[in-house]
Amino acid sequence: MPSPTAPPVCKPNDPCWCGSGKKFKRCHRPTAERVRAGRLGPRRSVPDHIEHPPYAESGEPVRWDEPLVKSPEVLDRMRRTGAAAAEILRTVGAAVAPGVTTDELDALAHEECIRLGGYPSPLNYRWFPKSLCTSVNEVICHGIPDDRALCDGDIVNLDVTLWREGVHGDTNATFCVGTVDPESRRLVTVTRECMDRGIDAVRPGLPINVIGRAIADHADANGCAVIRAFIGHGIGEQFHTDLAVPHYFEPRATTIMEPGMTFTIEPMISLGSWQHQIWDDGWTAVTPDHSRVAQFEHTLVVTDDGADILTVPTEGPTAADVALEQALGNERSAAPSPSLR
Ligand code: MF3
Ligand code: CO
Ligand code: CO
Repeated sequence: MPSPTAPPVCKPNDPCWCGSGKKFKRCHRPTAERVRAGRLGPRRSVPDHIEHPPYAESGEPVRWDEPLVKSPEVLDRMRRTGAAAAEILRTVGAAVAPGVTTDELDALAHEECIRLGGYPSPLNYRWFPKSLCTSVNEVICHGIPDDRALCDGDIVNLDVTLWREGVHGDTNATFCVGTVDPESRRLVTVTRECMDRGIDAVRPGLPINVIGRAIADHADANGCAVIRAFIGHGIGEQFHTDLAVPHYFEPRATTIMEPGMTFTIEPMISLGSWQHQIWDDGWTAVTPDHSRVAQFEHTLVVTDDGADILTVPTEGPTAADVALEQALGNERSAAPSPSLR
């Protein structure tokens, strides 16, 4: 009989959560193979009528001392670009299904950026070869879309960044592919909560390290680890500025938040190691123990009393809400019958 209070996380030798009486490792432990690099498709082009960012040809972003606090005019542009990025992420997220390749998702993201009048920021940014980042299972971030088809049981993060009206909007969410094990679904839920806690910690007058403290406290309380090597960043006319937003508690991150500052919060949360390794492609970051990682990201602006999220669609749910619903809805249908709960 499955216990109604069975913890969703099982160690390898624990009885499986499904109630079979078998060890977790012999039953429902995800056996999906490690993610391996597939084959890259040809480079996609952006038509001439779409304005290209300065790095589009050279690969090298032009760096300049962009103000941390944006003018209302820049914020208006960031709000419009952010909304468009959010809509693209939701559209591409809706295409996630077993059998779909990450390159097909890249093609869709690429087309949607152009259809909405913008340039897909990742394309040739520091020579990144594609228009979208697709990070599957143990891939932490910066996965390169290729001919690998998504498998039933995978989790996949889609990271969309759009450059339009001279500014970037950067947002991502982690989606469940088909039927996903409870431990991974819990990871997705906890990661979404970590992002929300980070956003709730934003307040003018406070040091930026309160964000990482809020995120790390929630990850710790749930037995999860915060990836340290990749952090949130200032954003605006440049994709990444010098402003650093660690997702763990970093006492030296003492920049005081001020109304009008724009940055991302994008915690990567692991079921195992907080460390990372980079593949030979120079981009794909994975956990050394192959533990799965989820991530959510918003671009936001500091307001007089908190934060305003810029990467929300003009109407309808955010991709993060759709993804959370998937993780929870999935969980409801996989749980023991309601009478047991
Ligand atoms: N979107 C990523 C971030 O959140 C950055 C991707 S860099 C790229 O910061 F070159 F891979 F696109
Ligand atoms: Co970002
Ligand atoms: Co991003």
